[in-house]
Amino acid sequence: MKRLDGKSALITGSARGIGRAFAEAYVREGATVAIADIDMERAERTAAEIGDNAYAVALDVTDQASIDAAVAAVEARAGGLDILVNNAAIFDLAPIVDITRESYERVFAINVSGTLFMMQAAAKSMIAGNRRGRIVNMASQAGRRGEPLVAVYCASKAAVISLTQSAGLNLVRHGINVNAIAPGVVDGEHWDGVDALFAQYENRPRGEKKRLAGAEVPYGRMGTADDLVGMAIFLAGPESEYVVAQTYNVDGGNWMS
Ligand SMILES: NC(=O)c1ccc[n+]([C@@H]2O[C@H](COP(=O)([O-])OP(=O)(O)OC[C@H]3O[C@@H](n4cnc5c(N)ncnc54)[C@H](O)[C@@H]3O)[C@@H](O)[C@H]2O)c1
Repeated sequence: MKRLDGKSALITGSARGIGRAFAEAYVREGATVAIADIDMERAERTAAEIGDNAYAVALDVTDQASIDAAVAAVEARAGGLDILVNNAAIFDLAPIVDITRESYERVFAINVSGTLFMMQAAAKSMIAGNRRGRIVNMASQAGRRGEPLVAVYCASKAAVISLTQSAGLNLVRHGINVNAIAPGVVDGEHWDGVDALFAQYENRPRGEKKRLAGAEVPYGRMGTADDLVGMAIFLAGPESEYVVAQTYNVDGGNWMS
């Protein structure tokens, strides 16, 4: 018996990166997974590569009609929704004096409003379907402490931790567990973009910030998406029944809280 046998999952932003690794792992554990992403072309490719138990769903987490349509598509395809992973997010970087309203509003629309209204749509579906669901939100070590150039992203991830606490306490009465994962620095396309922004603002050669970030991790290297998979399965599966409203650091020892 696999840990997610027969479960229906939706993972936002799973066309690539950490979300994709979670989708592969959930399928291995017996789930059917909706690869829900704004990049539909890549979502289709990823779903085809994962196999029959993954399928692509168009989703823009900033658009309520798109959220409702994605959840409806999962209900139609898989008969209901058991597991939501709120993984889609964007990063931006600027000193306080250079932050634009456009950047702030975009980061908050995806990372915060997207997380909240995806949780709402999923919870409605789980309650209506009488399913004891699981919601896993992707926070970050950036949500534990501010950083001089990363005010907006850090604030957005602190909001994800707070939303996880409130939603966890509210939805437990419906048998829905809400928890979060706070990764540290995870290698991949996302961090390539982060590295490029630091190169620009700190006047560094490309690749240097990434190398330093990895060297500073107590474990001795950057994380990989696969390092997070065990926690993602645990929080979606039966062994986390009594775990409510928590955020777990999976960061090689970077942060303690
Ligand atoms: N990579 C890291 O070092 C790191 C560290 C801490 C936390 N995290 C968090 O983990 C999660 C996954 O990170 P990643 O490195 O895989 O990121 P990524 O940038 O590789 O993937 C993000 C995915 O989200 C999708 N997306 C963007 N906007 C969207 C929207 N409006 N609607 C739907 N999908 C949208 C993108 O198309 C992409 O497929 C994020 O929440 C991120 O903040 C990552």
